[in-house]
Amino acid sequence: MKNIRIWGGRPLDGTVYIQGSKNAALPVMAAAVLHKGMTVLHDCPKIADVFFMEKILSHLGAKTCWKDHFGHLGHSLYLDCSDLRATDIPDEYASRMRCSIILLGALLGRFGQGAIAPPGGCVIGKRPIDLHLSMLRALGTHIEEHPKVLRACAADLDGELYGARIRFAKQSVGATEHGMIAAVLAKGTTYLENCAKEPEVVWLAQALNGMGASVTGAGTDQIRIEGVEALHDSAFQVPPDRIVAGTYLCAAAATRGKICIENPPLSEMSAFLGVYGKMGGQYDVIGGKLIADASGACGPITRLETDVYPGFSTDLQSPVMAVLALARGKSHIRENIFEDRFRVAEDLVRMGAHIRINGRDAYIDGTERLYGCRVTAQELRGGAALILAGLAAEGETTVDDFHLVERGYEQIQEDIRSLGGRILVEGE
Ligand code: UD1
Repeated sequence: MKNIRIWGGRPLDGTVYIQGSKNAALPVMAAAVLHKGMTVLHDCPKIADVFFMEKILSHLGAKTCWKDHFGHLGHSLYLDCSDLRATDIPDEYASRMRCSIILLGALLGRFGQGAIAPPGGCVIGKRPIDLHLSMLRALGTHIEEHPKVLRACAADLDGELYGARIRFAKQSVGATEHGMIAAVLAKGTTYLENCAKEPEVVWLAQALNGMGASVTGAGTDQIRIEGVEALHDSAFQVPPDRIVAGTYLCAAAATRGKICIENPPLSEMSAFLGVYGKMGGQYDVIGGKLIADASGACGPITRLETDVYPGFSTDLQSPVMAVLALARGKSHIRENIFEDRFRVAEDLVRMGAHIRINGRDAYIDGTERLYGCRVTAQELRGGAALILAGLAAEGETTVDDFHLVERGYEQIQEDIRSLGGRILVEGE
């Protein structure tokens, strides 16, 4: 088991480059299954979730490799899905990565059939897949739900899916992406309604269109997909990760530091930058770089609600909680997306934070100091929040189960070290 040790109390200072976005890369990797040929992802983040998706694609029969691209060493992922041999995704893969469910639609599009172990629960909430399954059924899929496997096949004898008008009962990023992927090779036109409007949905549409698909309306609540016969080879530039950029700004705020972010996804960070500004953080954009002075980011936020895009992202809720634990006053966070995403609060309290959780509400009474101790990452963003708390805390903090943080951050230890933080990863 890996853990990370942090010696806190030093304001961060320096420059950091933002990796490619995890949530943009993963659905494009799944979409590669649709095409009997090559799909390339440039600037693809080298993180555990991407490696894991690569492993699933290899299990299906894809040939994969990493190459250099314009000075970016080894960050171009080549996925050759010419000869896929399997259409099943066993439990060892499906249970470890919830977004693997979107591979089912890709397999259905390519082969008219697929099977996947049902993705289990998750520490941030129940995370059901009802919207995914009803969407696939509406496209003409017959699905058998067994306790250990979901078996899906095109209901029509010709093995094709058919375009349909589908209204999602709730906005879901994953179900919207899944619907786009499943409909690309379906016969006729698919209309998806009440879609998620997250940037990752727009990027997936760009990637699919780059492969030869016909997707319009992504970024609005109505997406239209005109089914095409086949796709072609393509390359997709993975955009920078808005959650990683927000995390590093939170690290600057927690330590009252000053950092420069290279390659920031500015247009997708508005809600977060609004909150950062309300806390007292300042920034300038010079030559495409975000220069942040967080030395005064000590104000509380009287009410912060997570919401679908363009609202405040649930993925940055835990990092912001770590910052507000050290604010001068009382803050209130309401989590509207996932019902159980406050688990990190318990460990922050062990470090000296004053946080009370009541259902979907967290009440935070800022304290002057946190104190290092041994804590445990329970999930990706909560684990990152504990690292930020450790950077701000007095003394030494050890965060166990660091592998959960590695699911989404390519080199958080090197990045923080380059910003002057004292941090060490131990174990394998
Ligand atoms: C994606 C992101 C995740 C982010 C989340 C919300 C990826 C790989 N993950 O997750 O980082 O936190 O969006 O921005 O891109 N729901 C249902 N039924 C379903 C599907 C979802 O009720 O079939 C509910 C969920 O429980 C949740 C809400 O819809 O309450 C939003 O979830 P969703 O947008 O689907 O999140 P993910 O796509 O899983």
